[in-house]
Amino acid sequence: MADSVLRKDFLWGGATAANQCEGAWDVDGKGISVSDICTGGRFGASKRITPVLEPDTFYPSREGVRHYEKFREDIKLFAEMGFKVYRFSIAWTRIFPNGDETEPNEKGLKHYEEVIDECLKYGIEPLITLSHYEVPFGLTKKCNSWVSREMIDYFLRYCRAVFTRYKGKVKYWLTFNEINSSVEPMGALLNQGILNDLENPTVFMEQPDYPNQRFQGLHHMFVASALAVKMAHEIDPNYQIGNMMIYMACYPFTCNPDDVLKNQERNRVMNYFCSDVQCRGAYPSYMNRYFKENNITVKMEEGDEKILKEGTVDFYTFSYYMSVCQTADPNAKRGEGNILGGVNNPYLKASDWGWQIDPKGLRYSLNEIYDRYQLPLMVVENGLGAYDELKEDGTIEDDYRIDYLRQHIEQMKEAVKDGVDLMGYTPWGCIDLVSASTGEYEKRYGFIYVRRYDDGTGDFARLKKKSFDWYKKVIASNGEEL
Ligand code: BG6
Repeated sequence: MADSVLRKDFLWGGATAANQCEGAWDVDGKGISVSDICTGGRFGASKRITPVLEPDTFYPSREGVRHYEKFREDIKLFAEMGFKVYRFSIAWTRIFPNGDETEPNEKGLKHYEEVIDECLKYGIEPLITLSHYEVPFGLTKKCNSWVSREMIDYFLRYCRAVFTRYKGKVKYWLTFNEINSSVEPMGALLNQGILNDLENPTVFMEQPDYPNQRFQGLHHMFVASALAVKMAHEIDPNYQIGNMMIYMACYPFTCNPDDVLKNQERNRVMNYFCSDVQCRGAYPSYMNRYFKENNITVKMEEGDEKILKEGTVDFYTFSYYMSVCQTADPNAKRGEGNILGGVNNPYLKASDWGWQIDPKGLRYSLNEIYDRYQLPLMVVENGLGAYDELKEDGTIEDDYRIDYLRQHIEQMKEAVKDGVDLMGYTPWGCIDLVSASTGEYEKRYGFIYVRRYDDGTGDFARLKKKSFDWYKKVIASNGEEL
């Protein structure tokens, strides 16, 4: 290990989110969150948003993979793989069920204290996402969530409760998961809790959408995030707060300057706008033109600019799954799985869900991001969503997942050789869980298989996949044995 490329204290681990794995959606005082009103679905058959819960409909977040009750068993398995860090999220609705209470729910606080203690028992560092697609639905109904400025106070009340309670036990926090998903309609409900029709069910990607609301909501989130950073440092100077971006490497589809410029615009708006605010502490000038051309007006209050300046993050984190190409040709065929737009790259293959696999794009992205911010970076999501076959003898031979992860880790190491300061790596869905985009169980990411199926059958038993032992070896060799 003496000669490993990655730093000696490299944080190897895995990542989950409460709404996708915990289940127990109404247990111990938990309130309803925006993910609890999303039905199941699958690739090609979108999930729906049902503001009024339907009695006979399947809502995956009700059961997740029962991590709420089985977290000890799961963390023990993570420890067996050698995890140094476990990225999980706190369900805001377990702490403030409706979102606007003045006192936190003790049962919720206690639950996460037990999760944290269980991690620490094995020497696993908790890395906690404060808001991962989990806004209290009560706040959507009350004020259409982040559209309203009052959300800043609700969020900070929640932050204070958890920052104070877990002081001395936790070091790393992330404010908003994939904050830049709100640059697109996809982020409106999940990321921001915005819902403009509170009566009728809508198809997930087809809810009534007003970009002005999303960008105003983002402004409130930026202010809330900056104030949370400041508050965290005041409560415990050892706290390190990161942002969290969905980063999709963007390439011009051709070297036609029109494609190159299109790519530059898209790359800035999608991949850099939010992190420019959170890492540099100010709105980038290129957004002025974007706002003007898209009729977007962001209302700021006096003092906001100072808050943003003073509340920049300590480290930068992101999810990386795929890359896309940008073209100026309006008639070009969009890639099917590209939920955030773009056309397919003819040099790359795609997953069964149409996500184009691009390990070298990870090296490229790490370099681009590090050049821009010079902050420590962490890849807090990456992985292959795939159909896994559970054989009769109880084995799961997921060599395709091993290949995917191996290639991405190789490229991370290349980026480190290029000079990037990389803190850690937490592949997504280290245990199988419910897919966020499609709402299904069959899109599996884990090293640990969960016997639970979309037809409602399965006993939630945990089984080690082939990748489990492989990842254990990778961690033990600090990334040298791939
Ligand atoms: C990220 C999210 O977008 O990607 C996760 O932070 C999500 O919540 C993950 O699960 C993978 O996406 P999906 O749609 O395959 O679950």
